[in-house]
Amino acid sequence: MALRVGVVGMRGIGQTHAQCHMNDPLADLVAVCDVVKARADEVAKKHGVKAYYSLKDMLANEDLDIVDVTTGGPENGGWHYEPVMEALDAGRHVLVEKPISNDIEDAREMVAYAQEKDLYLGCNLNHYFTEPARQARQYIDEGRIGEQMYCLHRMGFVGGAATYAKGGGANVAGFPYFHVKAFLAHPFSIMRYFCGDITHIQAFMGRPSFRVAAADPMVALNSIHMRFQSGAVGYLFSQRGDATMGLGGWWSVEVGGSQGTFCIENCVEKCTFWPAPGTPGAKPEKLGLGQVPEPTVHDTGIKDFGATFPNRIHAFLEDVTNRVPKHLLRANGRDALATLEYTFAAIESFEEGGVLVRPNPLPILRHNPREQ
Ligand SMILES: NC(=O)c1ccc[n+]([C@@H]2O[C@H](COP(=O)([O-])OP(=O)(O)OC[C@H]3O[C@@H](n4cnc5c(N)ncnc54)[C@H](O)[C@@H]3O)[C@@H](O)[C@H]2O)c1
Repeated sequence: MALRVGVVGMRGIGQTHAQCHMNDPLADLVAVCDVVKARADEVAKKHGVKAYYSLKDMLANEDLDIVDVTTGGPENGGWHYEPVMEALDAGRHVLVEKPISNDIEDAREMVAYAQEKDLYLGCNLNHYFTEPARQARQYIDEGRIGEQMYCLHRMGFVGGAATYAKGGGANVAGFPYFHVKAFLAHPFSIMRYFCGDITHIQAFMGRPSFRVAAADPMVALNSIHMRFQSGAVGYLFSQRGDATMGLGGWWSVEVGGSQGTFCIENCVEKCTFWPAPGTPGAKPEKLGLGQVPEPTVHDTGIKDFGATFPNRIHAFLEDVTNRVPKHLLRANGRDALATLEYTFAAIESFEEGGVLVRPNPLPILRHNPREQ
């Protein structure tokens, strides 16, 4: 039977989620909610579902399985805590947009509360619910990357001085860490998905002259160096439209190891694999100076990043439908917390002039003995 879903927060992203649930056979969208009446009414009318103007009312009147929280707020995460806690308190499973919160204490509490209530808490870390990420993950699982050595990731918005516009929204204006807190959940989730937990972080951040001239406090250039638990090293560069990205486009990740290397370009678009010289299938067998092995290119033909939303939402619905053990929920609350712990470690490093910071340890991975 389809899962009964209510979505809270009916602006751009909430509308996308509502449409995904409408299109997904595992979901039955029964209600939408926004504190701004007109927004809830419009989407409710479009989909023929009930409109609510407070989550409390929605929870009191609808027998929901899932509350999907797309409320945003300061730094795009400041309004996630209350509806998430309210829905968990009412015994509902929750999917929350990223970042899980803009406050690390709140995020820790949300993850702990979901565990205490034995409910699913998922986060929309949608960037790895793609065909290139599936392909890359397969390379790792089949041993074709081998011992991981490095991860190079660039993700952000493409632009330059001519396209710069100072962010004036209440969620952005005056927050120096808007980009860091609102966006780095994505690249950190990618790096952790492919390479595991991060144990050491060092960050430098800055603003180009046109932001300084506009008295825009946002540290929009983020250069972050890290070490993974595996011993591999990593580098993340992120930015908010201040420069134009070159090869690999707005989003590229390269993971290199003892057996081979992959690189994903533009998130949904392409995954390329280079076998290490001497490994099965590698051509030529020996490399001369300046030569590289012949790559295998998987080009999906997909250009639309929007394709990640239905994929990720379907995965959440599938996991809840199949009642997977809570710790195996894909892109779960603990995964989202990890990205925020790394974000806060990067901020601390930057504020301390680039010192090495060890991110706060994640909560112990608990296996519920009643689940498998
Ligand atoms: N995963 C992705 O790729 C991706 C992309 C963009 C944005 N996002 C995230 O999606 C979220 C929403 O983004 P947006 O641009 O649609 O936000 P928005 O601020 O434009 O809209 C949020 C809506 O939620 C409503 N709202 C806030 N608190 C509420 C509450 N307690 N009860 C009912 N309604 C409430 C507001 O009235 C508003 O209509 C953000 O967290 C953002 O970070 C994710």
